[in-house]
Amino acid sequence: MNSPTRNTQIQLSRQRDGMPDLDDFEVHVVPTPEIADGEFLVRTIYLSLDPYIRKAMRGDHPGHAKLAPGEVIYGRAVCRIVRSRHADYKQGDYLVAETGWQNFAALTPKKVVQRIDPTLGPLSTALGVLGMPGLTAWGSVAHIAQPNVGDTFVVSAAAGPVGGTAGQLAKQAGARVVGIAGGKEKCDLVTRTYGFDACIDYKKSGWQDALAAACPGGIDIYHDNVGASLLNDLVKFFNLYARVVLCGRPADYHSGDFEGLSIGPIIGKRAVVRGMVVYDYEHDLARYQRVAAQLMREGKLRFKEDRVEGVESTPAHFLKLMRGENIGKAIVSVGPEKG
Ligand SMILES: NC(=O)c1ccc[n+]([C@@H]2O[C@H](COP(=O)([O-])OP(=O)(O)OC[C@H]3O[C@@H](n4cnc5c(N)ncnc54)[C@H](OP(=O)(O)O)[C@@H]3O)[C@@H](O)[C@H]2O)c1
Repeated sequence: MNSPTRNTQIQLSRQRDGMPDLDDFEVHVVPTPEIADGEFLVRTIYLSLDPYIRKAMRGDHPGHAKLAPGEVIYGRAVCRIVRSRHADYKQGDYLVAETGWQNFAALTPKKVVQRIDPTLGPLSTALGVLGMPGLTAWGSVAHIAQPNVGDTFVVSAAAGPVGGTAGQLAKQAGARVVGIAGGKEKCDLVTRTYGFDACIDYKKSGWQDALAAACPGGIDIYHDNVGASLLNDLVKFFNLYARVVLCGRPADYHSGDFEGLSIGPIIGKRAVVRGMVVYDYEHDLARYQRVAAQLMREGKLRFKEDRVEGVESTPAHFLKLMRGENIGKAIVSVGPEKG
């Protein structure tokens, strides 16, 4: 495909802490970049919106410098090579790469996250269940928590790509799986589509009684996607020697502040609390993808996407994710898969 000459990109308009709003972003139309030797031009197909982008914008995430006004917002995408001046990267190849929020990007191999095998699943899943969020769930469940048959595994933000995948992987290992999520629509997704044993809507009064009823034998493993406030509430339901995987704390991504854990109750439960970072499991991505793709074919691993169309829609969709209103993996559909 010949590249059009115009590239729409979303730039940062001002750098600040706090919950972002639409005025923090600006749409710019610029010439599509030329490529030098060793580079290739990619066309964005699906753009991934992830909570860490908020931290990356502020320079509070590994490998991401603080953005200055006028710079393109960070982000990974499923993209296709349009033109190449690199022998190992051919026109037509599908990649996950660090494109930023734009239609076209001139890249070097350093910006490539992975090559996509399109036979494994729908292309967009390389950003969700078969991509970084899925690998995060795999790192937590298969490498760290390792649930046994009969364990009770609880996960927060259960409707999202990390939580939903983690719960389904734990279910495959024989655990009783209980999700925690905000709202009825998310909880319905978690039980009806993902097949969890129960899902507790923490925005409803009496949710702690509902959780106790859903976990009659107590909690053996908690995968924490949301941070200290909920974890402090959950410790009383832990069994002795409970395993806790600390994965994310989206409320704290807007500034350097963070909510503290109540240590005393954790000591009392002799809980093993372990932080996890997905980068530690990148060596296992191919094996994870083979396992997950097979489970998907068998209908044992399901996913949900929350999509909008067009790169101009990205800031509003990102703000929806920042408010926790996304239902499933947040994705922007930017261009066609073919061509
Ligand atoms: N450690 C790692 O290497 C790693 C890698 C990937 C992702 N993560 C983390 O894993 C978590 C889940 O990621 P994901 O991509 O699957 O996200 P996601 O679940 O699609 O979206 C985040 C969810 O967090 C919940 N939430 C609770 N408090 C929130 C707040 N103050 N602001 C925004 N959202 C809030 C919301 O769900 P409810 O309404 O259900 O509460 C929201 O939908 C995130 O914390 C992410 O940063 C960590």
